[in-house]
Amino acid sequence: MTRSLALENVSAHYGSTQVLENLSLHVGEGELVSLLGASGCGKTTTLRLVAGFLEPSSGCIRLGDRDLTRLPAHARDIGLVFQTYALFPHLSVMDNVAFGLKQRGMAASSRRAKAAEMIERVGLTGFADRYPANLSGGQRQRVALARALVIDPPLLMFDEPLSNLDAKLRVDMRVEIRRLQRASGATALYVTHDQEEAFSISDRVAIMNAGRIMQLDAPEVLYSRPANAFVADFVGFENMIAMKIVGEGDKAVTVSMAGGATLELDRALYAVPGRDFLFAARAEGMLVARQGQGIPAVLGMRSYLGRAYQYRCQTEAGEIVANGPLSEPFEPGERVVLVPQADQCCLLPGKPA
Ligand SMILES: Nc1ncnc2c1ncn2[C@@H]1O[C@H](COP(=O)(O)OP(=O)(O)OP(=O)(O)O)[C@@H](O)[C@H]1O
Ligand SMILES: [Mg+2]
Repeated sequence: MTRSLALENVSAHYGSTQVLENLSLHVGEGELVSLLGASGCGKTTTLRLVAGFLEPSSGCIRLGDRDLTRLPAHARDIGLVFQTYALFPHLSVMDNVAFGLKQRGMAASSRRAKAAEMIERVGLTGFADRYPANLSGGQRQRVALARALVIDPPLLMFDEPLSNLDAKLRVDMRVEIRRLQRASGATALYVTHDQEEAFSISDRVAIMNAGRIMQLDAPEVLYSRPANAFVADFVGFENMIAMKIVGEGDKAVTVSMAGGATLELDRALYAVPGRDFLFAARAEGMLVARQGQGIPAVLGMRSYLGRAYQYRCQTEAGEIVANGPLSEPFEPGERVVLVPQADQCCLLPGKPA
């Protein structure tokens, strides 16, 4: 049996309010995919549908060749780890971890052995007889992880599992989660609203907005080649400038923007998506210079970033945030040009969001 997860055209409603709209998502066997997005965009709802706590209003959900759509939650064989650990307070660490094995009818001695092995694997050897109340947040989350992994589920799902932990522990635990997930071979769906966490832990990330997936790709692709203005904004392209082609050559195109300034864009460096497009640039993708091929600007406020100076710049195409070298601080009011650095810029179809 393969362990891949597929959601096909899934919609979900709470009462008459639609929260997911024709969502399709495929997670390959052994792959870890994160759902990333602002509060309320539908991440938890997606997990609840897969877990069987909520029924989709349309569409289907499959795990390998099994159709989960109408299967009761307890029959789905999914390991779940939530933000609040949801441990049984009256059970020891051992009994919490062994719980799922007991439910599956495993004999007492074998389930103790299996739970003990999992407790060791999450680094809690020596804590088996403790109760949840006497553990730290990080230790409780390890118990929750052991409890999810011990049943050897084909699918693991995590809903903000680290958000109650401090910053240092969050980083340690996410490495640990990834290591254990890889070792188990389980397919995984991971929910977070922390971009760094999602990018560091995942094979691919789905960026969600208002119940829809805006782009699903490897972190590197999302970061350097966002597919649309929403994702570009999400991954830190501060500047979005509407441009249009006014001249086409073999090697370059000439584009113009509001106010009439023009730029030559080298075809080898830029994939031009159409006549009208958005030029998306990070602040470090717009270099403040005295001269060169760029967008004329008047400098506004300067701030010191440690690795560069950053300027708010007035141009006829609107305000642009641009960086300048530490070796040469410019003064507010100076007339400069903003020179695009192709490796920190990309061209997007369409008009500003
Ligand atoms: N039980 C419910 N009844 C009605 N509306 C709900 C219910 N649960 C969630 N919603 C609504 O559905 C939408 C999606 O909620 P969901 O919990 O999936 O968001 P989320 O992406 O997990 O957000 P967060 O990052 O805050 O956890 C939100 O607008 C929310 O208010
Ligand atoms: Mg949520």
